[in-house]
Amino acid sequence: MDTELTDETRHRESPRVALVTGATGAIGKAIARRIAARSEHEVVLLCRDAAKAEAALADIQRRTGNPRVRYALVDLARQASIAALAAC
Ligand SMILES: NC(=O)c1ccc[n+]([C@@H]2O[C@H](COP(=O)([O-])OP(=O)(O)OC[C@H]3O[C@@H](n4cnc5c(N)ncnc54)[C@H](OP(=O)(O)O)[C@@H]3O)[C@@H](O)[C@H]2O)c1
Repeated sequence: MDTELTDETRHRESPRVALVTGATGAIGKAIARRIAARSEHEVVLLCRDAAKAEAALADIQRRTGNPRVRYALVDLARQASIAALAAC
């Protein structure tokens, strides 16, 4: 029997937390939507603007129906902001 896991089956069997930077932007939002649509992972959108984060979250949840998507605010240009996120 072939026991090799594909990316899809590995995702299903090992749900994790996917942190997506730039999730209000073109590439990050597309990546977050794809993970939310195709895996069991919890998806956390890392954003610096709350209004944009709310809009991205609503769009991804509406398109994927995945309730395990949320956002966290962080400014990746500020070490203190990253440290605060990591401490959560
Ligand atoms: N699109 C392409 O075809 C392409 C091709 C090659 C390389 N790239 C590179 O790939 C990266 C992403 O491209 P993109 O098209 O998705 O860009 P984008 O639409 O401009 O999105 C950039 C994302 O980064 C976030 N961001 C910027 N500074 C941040 C900070 N200090 N802390 C937290 N988040 C921050 C922005 O948040 P806000 O919404 O709050 O501004 C936004 O979500 C860029 O570096 C771009 O140069 C893009």
